[in-house]
Amino acid sequence: MSRIIHTPEGVRDLAPSELERKLDTAGKLLGVIKQAGFLLMQTPSFEYFDVFAKNIGLTPSNELYKFYDKEGNTLVLRPDFTPSMARAYSKMDEESGKSVGLCYCGNTFVNGNDLNGALKESTQIGAELYNDASCEADARIISLVVKCMETAGFSEFVVSLGNGDFFKGLFDEIGMDDDAETSLRELISTGNYHKAEEHLSKIDMDEDLKKLIVHISDEYTTRSSLNDLKSLINNEKSLNAIDRLCKIWDILEKDGMAEHVTIDLGLLNKYNYYTGVLFRAYTFGCGDAVMKGGRYDNLVREFGKDTPAIGFGISLDEMMEALYAQEGKGERDSGYLTFALTKGRLADKTLALLEKTGITCEEMKDKKTRKLIFVNEDLKLRFFLAKGPDVPTYVEHGVADIGVVGKDTIDEENRKILEVLDLGFGKCRMCVCGYESAKQLLKKRDMIKIGTKYPRIARSYFNDVRHQSVDIIKLNGSIELAPIVGLSDCIVDIVETGSTLRENGLAVLEEIMDLSARMVINPVSMRLHKKRINELIGRIKEEL
Ligand code: PRP
Repeated sequence: MSRIIHTPEGVRDLAPSELERKLDTAGKLLGVIKQAGFLLMQTPSFEYFDVFAKNIGLTPSNELYKFYDKEGNTLVLRPDFTPSMARAYSKMDEESGKSVGLCYCGNTFVNGNDLNGALKESTQIGAELYNDASCEADARIISLVVKCMETAGFSEFVVSLGNGDFFKGLFDEIGMDDDAETSLRELISTGNYHKAEEHLSKIDMDEDLKKLIVHISDEYTTRSSLNDLKSLINNEKSLNAIDRLCKIWDILEKDGMAEHVTIDLGLLNKYNYYTGVLFRAYTFGCGDAVMKGGRYDNLVREFGKDTPAIGFGISLDEMMEALYAQEGKGERDSGYLTFALTKGRLADKTLALLEKTGITCEEMKDKKTRKLIFVNEDLKLRFFLAKGPDVPTYVEHGVADIGVVGKDTIDEENRKILEVLDLGFGKCRMCVCGYESAKQLLKKRDMIKIGTKYPRIARSYFNDVRHQSVDIIKLNGSIELAPIVGLSDCIVDIVETGSTLRENGLAVLEEIMDLSARMVINPVSMRLHKKRINELIGRIKEEL
């Protein structure tokens, strides 16, 4: 029997020096949190499934590690601390009317996607403040977020502060139907304003409100801009949400804690349990926020005690990653915006477009070069070329701030990136293709075989749009071969001129969607380089 020396995907050993550093950082963070009046407590690593069920938890059921006890109860390795802490707090007796601050440190377990570099077991530190619904409590928690970021050793970071009630009020005012609201909420909460604009263009509503929604994250980021925003709003819930943010801001400013905080009303409560104020802390070197939190006044009620609460969680492993990345970056790396471009025609067209806006990269014009990174020193821009499916990966991980890639690849890869601009070139269509005779097969809803390079898009089209079961066979190229040699009945593939289909006696049977090249942005870069990236998008838009 061979010796087992490797760990499973998504978990890892920590070498003594790495562990020492991690524990040292954890100790400092817990020190600051305890000093702010929070008591350390521990909840178990696994709990009943219902503690993290859909109406309560943040993690989809298929990403929970589930198992059974001897009595047949379903148990879950905790994917997150907040529901566990709320459950534990609900049993406590406290002096009536007094707030209670609790904090924790431990590991969480999420059975997410493989091979994307994300940990399935990771360490979280956090604090929860119960039984205090005041603005002062919100400000106290946000101050603690700022202090934690400083204590960890970050000097450059942004804490985005929003209020989910703002959009709740706005959606009620507009009277949007549930499906439209869910889609819009998803687009805004992930920062995909370009797609949100497309979505809004199909909805009958006031044009000024549409503009307001699309520009909410860019134009209303300061205390003074919130006053302008109030004059555009007619509903009480949204006005109260703005007032609350103003009050919190004033407390933070008075306490000298507002320097790193920006307002972002685009932060939305995608999850069930958040009820008002929301915040995220972003820094360089990590593709996602390192601290997240918000107010969740209805969660403790799920465990039998009607108590308001607000709290935050720190992803300690991601924080360590950001610290290492920032130390590794010397002067040479600072201040650059990095582009990942899709090799081939899309890169050529992107460079031609950028050149029109005055952005050039002479090094890239040498077709014989074997260099991998190209630099424009004057403009502090860096470029590299990558295979299409790798572009969203580089952008999601934050090693590229901006990417240019086809819409087909964006939808297939399904990464956490922002799609901000349709560049209008690389136009083609995603279609179901095959012999004309396969049309009958598609109608009959029989089990059919689909060959494709795009299994996610094919699965979503057949299951969600056609409500049809299909067998998908993943292929990597020359997809048209599959029906010709009898591997599949149809294919889902890109059609540009249609000549490959014609020359092989095949045809388009159904159209799935129009495709073109899109500009995508890393969500952290968008926050940290907001002004520079928005200027760039503005210049490109003028040339389209
Ligand atoms: C794409 C696509 C089709 C072809 C369609 O393949 O997969 O095969 O282009 O273009 P047309 O409609 O203009 O004929 P690509 O050339 O990218 O290579 P691949 O077959 O290896 O995927």
